[in-house]
Amino acid sequence: MPEQESTGTPFYIETHGCQMNIYDSEFIADVLARNGYRRVASPKEASVILVNTCSVRDRAEKKALARIRELAALKRDRRDLAIAVVGCMAQRLGPRLAGGATGVDLVAGFDAYPSIPALLEDCGRAGRPTVATSKAPSFLYSLLPLEHPSITAFVTIMQGCDNFCSYCIVPHVRGRERSKPCEAIIEEIEHLVGLGVKEVTLIGQNVNSYHDGNRDFAGLLARAGDVAGLGRLRFTTSHPKDLTLGLVEAVRDLRKVCEHLHLPLQSGSDRILALMNRGYAFRDFRKMVDFARHTIPNLAVTTDLMVGFPTETESDFQATLKAVEDMRFDAAFMFRYSTREGTEAARLADDVPGQEKTRRLESVLSLQNSITDQRKRSLVGREAEILIERPNPREPGFMLGRTRENYLAKIPSEGVEMGETVVAPISAVTRWIVVCDGSLRKVED
Ligand code: SAH
Ligand code: SF4
Ligand code: F3S
Repeated sequence: MPEQESTGTPFYIETHGCQMNIYDSEFIADVLARNGYRRVASPKEASVILVNTCSVRDRAEKKALARIRELAALKRDRRDLAIAVVGCMAQRLGPRLAGGATGVDLVAGFDAYPSIPALLEDCGRAGRPTVATSKAPSFLYSLLPLEHPSITAFVTIMQGCDNFCSYCIVPHVRGRERSKPCEAIIEEIEHLVGLGVKEVTLIGQNVNSYHDGNRDFAGLLARAGDVAGLGRLRFTTSHPKDLTLGLVEAVRDLRKVCEHLHLPLQSGSDRILALMNRGYAFRDFRKMVDFARHTIPNLAVTTDLMVGFPTETESDFQATLKAVEDMRFDAAFMFRYSTREGTEAARLADDVPGQEKTRRLESVLSLQNSITDQRKRSLVGREAEILIERPNPREPGFMLGRTRENYLAKIPSEGVEMGETVVAPISAVTRWIVVCDGSLRKVED
């Protein structure tokens, strides 16, 4: 092992929540690495443990709290161990997280990330936890990491959200919407490509409202599509109300941009969509998706759905089931509504009983899963373009990658390397994976 890898204070970082937290964790890891810390792969080897948390649903916070307690228990035998909580729950709860019972030494909100090394030095000195959270976060970091371990990477292009969907905590924790300058994004992408990255996913709470004063999101995609050495571009999440004609055409016309839109519908009932403050009716959503599917060949469309929003009746829920049948999404993330303190919807009674929410969730899950299976089966025989990402840990002799539509794919490893792009016919599908074990051809960069 090279000498520099075995020196420095060992830290372990664990990430809960969405892609933005994954990006933020890499930012924190990079700040620590530049300040003499060394990343380790398990909490047992670490002197500093950081937990990057999510607040989107009550269950996510409970899970993070349980995990923090479990990790803090390691302190019984390790008096030098420091526990830091970062991310959305740290931002939201601040001092409320620092109570003695949790065993937390540092609570750091977003604006404090660049100073985490200094905060770690200080924390515990006063005999109580350090809390570093600002009221309205303004952070918008660039990440030019020392190293990057994989073929794919996330790049945050904007932060915050101004949509204030009535159920959602995100605008309350991440703050107001702000876009990174296009040239800073391009610098990050070029840097990552220099470290071997082939595919970049541009992320933001609402990427299609990106605007840096000069360029909108379609303009950014066009500029990023010019980066030499980059193979593919993806983006998420798109808000249905801001999906423009120009963006749909950009996805069609830009060779590097993959044919996949993640467009959260949430509900099929217009009454519920209005209560959610989503800014569209189901027919608008459908028109937009029809247009996108018509314009972009082989487009994959995925979504998020929520059941049990306050006042949701059986007939509202049936409208969601009907919408799912109509739309035939390729895949969906589905959730039970969870009240978030401080949101508009928290003023409404959470009146759909827990058991009923679970029944609705199971029902929509089973419908969507059968549609996902059907859509996948219909792919058999078609050619897929796959970027090879890594060996399949569960099946020696096979590599894993993703198709342009974002399906996980496996192909025999003989003759292919990580980072290569191949085209091969889909010979079979399982619930999670498309299998391409026929003859393949390589695609030049
Ligand atoms: N910015 C993204 C989504 C952020 S949160 C967007 O607008 O689509 C990801 C998903 O979590 C949401 O799409 C929604 O389906 C779900 N979600 C958000 N708040 C929730 C809550 N209070 N209860 C249950 N699900 C929620
Ligand atoms: Fe939350 Fe809505 Fe913003 Fe998405 S668009 S982050 S769901 S407020
Ligand atoms: Fe969770 Fe924060 Fe992402 S609340 S979903 S980690 S923006």
